[in-house]
Amino acid sequence: MIELDSIAKSYPGVQLLTDINIKVEKGERVSIVGPGGCGKTTVLKILLGLVAPEAGDVKLMGQSILGMSSYEREEIMKNVGMAFQQGGLFDFMTVKENLMFAMEHMTSLSDDEMLATVRSLLAGVKLARTENMYPHELSGGMKRRVGIARALCTNPSVAIFDEPTSGLDPVTSTIILNMIGDLASGGEDKTLLVATSNTEIAVRFASRVIVINEGKVAADGPWRDLLVNGSDWVKNFLGVRFIGLDLDYAYELDLPKPFIAQHWQV
Ligand SMILES: Nc1ncnc2c1ncn2[C@@H]1O[C@H](COP(=O)(O)OP(=O)(O)O)[C@@H](O)[C@H]1O
Ligand SMILES: [Mg+2]
Repeated sequence: MIELDSIAKSYPGVQLLTDINIKVEKGERVSIVGPGGCGKTTVLKILLGLVAPEAGDVKLMGQSILGMSSYEREEIMKNVGMAFQQGGLFDFMTVKENLMFAMEHMTSLSDDEMLATVRSLLAGVKLARTENMYPHELSGGMKRRVGIARALCTNPSVAIFDEPTSGLDPVTSTIILNMIGDLASGGEDKTLLVATSNTEIAVRFASRVIVINEGKVAADGPWRDLLVNGSDWVKNFLGVRFIGLDLDYAYELDLPKPFIAQHWQV
């Protein structure tokens, strides 16, 4: 579904990505995690064709998007839903209009079908009553939820969420994580990607995590494995947030037994 092959990208004065290799199959759920500034958002923008890499290839659904005309690329991107960190809603449109706008451009649904989709998704993110409100009338968490509804309203086969919970309180974060999982598991095989610098969010979202550091993929695999068998840097990066948690919660997260044995007196 997604393939990044030997991607390199620099900005003036920084070689941000040197060699990024990522492959995600249809129906997989994956977290991309790494320290702030490691290049997660840039990787997503490269994937969406919004930023051009200096080297390497990008494939979506088996097709390289780099040599494509903008028309061909737009056609491919109709299968991809994206929720940016900032929400990315149009301020001059109501919540309903924001969702309708995406569907008008990316689907062939009728007006009635679009309206039904708006209502069911807004109910799904517990915002049924915001249909006619403008983004400035919503809180940060509400806007984030509308952004999630908008990413999913076109029924994309790939849905990508950049820092879906950053800056939100733990309760709202949990609601959002559950929503992404629930709304996306609409029967068919959606491929889901969450980028976050929060390791707790990453491991709660997916069993497979891709860790980016210093321009490369530092680790890629089941996080329970990496937490015990990864490099020292990876073990430390993934583990540091869990040390000191209540043991009950460590069990709830199903942290690996050797990790629990090492950090808690059990
Ligand atoms: N358009 C740009 N021009 C210059 N530098 C940029 C640009 N976009 C991102 N960067 C720099 O690249 C680094 C990584 O950015 P980003 O991909 O947003 O990382 P992350 O999402 O992991 O926090 C940051 O230090 C940022 O300042
Ligand atoms: Mg980012």
